[in-house]
Amino acid sequence: MFGRPARSGCRAWSGWAGPGALVVGVAAVAALGLAPSAHAQTAPTAPPAAAAGPPATGPSATGPSAAGPSAAQPDPALLERGRTRYVEACQSCHQADGSGQPQSGIPSLHADGAAAVDWWISTGRMPEATLMAQAPRKPVSISDADRAALVAYITSQWPGGPDIPTFDLSNGDLTDGGNLYRTNCAACHGAVGAGAALAYGAYAPSLHKATALQVGEAVRIGPGNMPVFGLDNLSDEQVADVATYVAYLHHPQDRGGAGLGHTGPIAEGFVGLLFGLVGMVGVASWVGHRSDDEPQERPDA
Ligand code: HEC
Ligand code: HEC
Repeated sequence: MFGRPARSGCRAWSGWAGPGALVVGVAAVAALGLAPSAHAQTAPTAPPAAAAGPPATGPSATGPSAAGPSAAQPDPALLERGRTRYVEACQSCHQADGSGQPQSGIPSLHADGAAAVDWWISTGRMPEATLMAQAPRKPVSISDADRAALVAYITSQWPGGPDIPTFDLSNGDLTDGGNLYRTNCAACHGAVGAGAALAYGAYAPSLHKATALQVGEAVRIGPGNMPVFGLDNLSDEQVADVATYVAYLHHPQDRGGAGLGHTGPIAEGFVGLLFGLVGMVGVASWVGHRSDDEPQERPDA
């Protein structure tokens, strides 16, 4: 007789546990659902920045180059070395006059700028071996000295375009850099710089191998599907802040949480949901199982 109220109490609770787990689960799913839309709000900032980019970079970045002739002329020996390397390694695709072969997807090098030539060679993307829709980062095959010679030759032949950044890119403000990164870069490269797929088979690569200089160059030249960020979008100091933050992403400190392989912000919520739900279902079925084990109510009661 004494067992009955306790039993029914237990049954009432176990009856509640199932829906309870569901309610918590649904709330968790709803919270997860909110995350992508909050993230999506940052995305529209990139295209306007992109739209504003090219006009801003053109004049401002060609400024220093336009002043070039009065500045130090490149060493003729360096130019000759660059010309030789160009004929050997680049001309078959980009042509002797640097106009490329647009019908085959090989771009012109006219007015590309030192930053672009330096970036495409230093990330190993050039010289291309097989013509791919998006030349991948690969081991560098051109020496530093040859790269400098190619930069000098190509920019002297076909001037214009952004210069290689010369300011200190590795000593920016980490907090400002993080904010700028989340606003301008995370939509494509991911919150932790691991890279992500874009539309039509293109992808934004991982940033974990990019040096501070390569970050600064990429921001100013906007390679492939990446927008150009001109001085109107990001000042030189802001570029340094972002480059510093990208360098930090190579080895983040996991303050206040497990890194979970740095797969992205969803991961922690997802892992929480997975273990939380599995745990709750386990508890609910254990409680239900326990009450099944107990003797059934007496028919005469
Ligand atoms: C096998 C053909 C091939 C060779 C050889 C080659 N390139 Fe390229 N280059 C390409 C293609 C294709 C692209 C476009 C890649 C992309 O959009 O991802 C490109 C893009 C570039 C760009 C960016 C141009 C722009 O305006 O977008 C630069 C700069 C460049 N190459 C420099 C060089 C240099 C310097 C060499 C020699 C060291 C070289 N390339 C050798 C095929 C080649
Ligand atoms: C619209 C998408 C998009 C945005 C926004 C964007 N990028 Fe990119 N980024 C790309 C793509 C696409 C490439 C690869 C280009 C190629 O190889 O043709 C790239 C390449 C890079 C690389 C070269 C990585 C490597 O070493 O291989 C760096 C560095 C980089 N981006 C930094 C940035 C930074 C910093 C920002 C923010 C200021 C940013 N990107 C914003 C799409 C984007």
